[in-house]
Amino acid sequence: MVPVLTRRSAMAGALAALLAPGSRQAAANAPPALRDLAAAKGILYGSCVQGAQLAAEDDFTALVLRECAAIVPENEMKWQWMSHRPDEEDFSIPDRIVDFATRYRLALRGHNLLWYWRTPDWFKALPRGQSAESAMVRRVTEMCRRYRGRVFCWDVVNEPIDVETGRADALRKTVFLDEIGPDYLDLAHRAAREADPAASLVVNEYGIVYDTPAAEQKRTAVLRLLERMKRNATPVDALGVQAHLDIGGDPFSPPKFRRFLADVAALGLDIQITELDATDERAPAEIAARDGLVADAYARFLDAALDEPALGVVVTWGLSDRHSWIVRHECNAQGWRKDGLPSRPLPFDAALARKRAWTALAAAFRAAPPRPPGKWAAPALALHHARR
Ligand code: G3I
Repeated sequence: MVPVLTRRSAMAGALAALLAPGSRQAAANAPPALRDLAAAKGILYGSCVQGAQLAAEDDFTALVLRECAAIVPENEMKWQWMSHRPDEEDFSIPDRIVDFATRYRLALRGHNLLWYWRTPDWFKALPRGQSAESAMVRRVTEMCRRYRGRVFCWDVVNEPIDVETGRADALRKTVFLDEIGPDYLDLAHRAAREADPAASLVVNEYGIVYDTPAAEQKRTAVLRLLERMKRNATPVDALGVQAHLDIGGDPFSPPKFRRFLADVAALGLDIQITELDATDERAPAEIAARDGLVADAYARFLDAALDEPALGVVVTWGLSDRHSWIVRHECNAQGWRKDGLPSRPLPFDAALARKRAWTALAAAFRAAPPRPPGKWAAPALALHHARR
């Protein structure tokens, strides 16, 4: 259950922390915020958050407001999280985060409309065909209509590709594919576009960063899917690259990844980095060494990624090591460090101090070629300004 994120609790805590006596002087001496370093190059930077974190932790909320121009609900918009009975959705759960974003003029990424792994059980029990299609289209339409003008982009179908299935189209075998058929993606994208013509529609995928045969196959499959969608005039605006980096794992080839991004851009699509973080279960225990390896991974990845001018949005999957799926055992039992030490995947540590990963992000934004002014950061934020 997400605690209530009231205006009073969020305002009082976060702004008091930001505006407390003496804090203006401290702010003048503080390093710049990631949001400003990114915005100076026309890039939108943000993080995922949970409503419960914003409601309960003033220091964390103040950090989010200082560093981020965009937020993403980590779980609150997932269909299974919102719906326990056929065609009933509890909008009050995402509403709190959407209201928070509107109040503080943060851009909001919508994550996600459909994800096989977080689909309500009642949907899985529906008969194949028409009733499943209607329920899926209703879900997409209601979300996009309700948050029209407040969500600047949607991950419409999260993680649609699985090269292991042996299907020629490489579509993941999901409840949507089973019950509706391979057109489900096109149907969902069309419903989203119809309900909110201004929101960017994103295909969000993982496992497409590293230099392995499996990742190479998946990159090719993603490209084929995007080409197919363009050919069918299915509305799609961007590829979301999740980018859960893995320290000491598979090799990374900047030129190959760079080539892939250029191929996506050549289709006329934008690119967003949607879930950047780094698992460190294979890295040494010693913190300075570990943080250095995490920062190096961020740097190598971002240097390649930000070289692509079609990439205008960077989101880390969390801001502080206090809150990450990687440090929550229920989300990451498999990737748990053998020595039991807490993982350190994000730009700030659990006490909210900057880490070398923050420095790597800052350096990458500083070095990034400028994007066309007003293409990403400004329009996403303008949605919220326009509503005030
Ligand atoms: O809040 C409950 C808590 O009450 C309960 O005691 C606990 C024990 O099971 O579970 C808690 O809920 C968990 C929730 O995260 C909050 O920690 C869920 O079990 C857990 O499944 C959920 O995991 C989320 C996961 O997606 C699945 O939805 C992670 O927070 C979230 O970071 C992760 O995010 C995904 C992206 O959406 C898509 N890409 C991959 C990424 C990482 O897995």
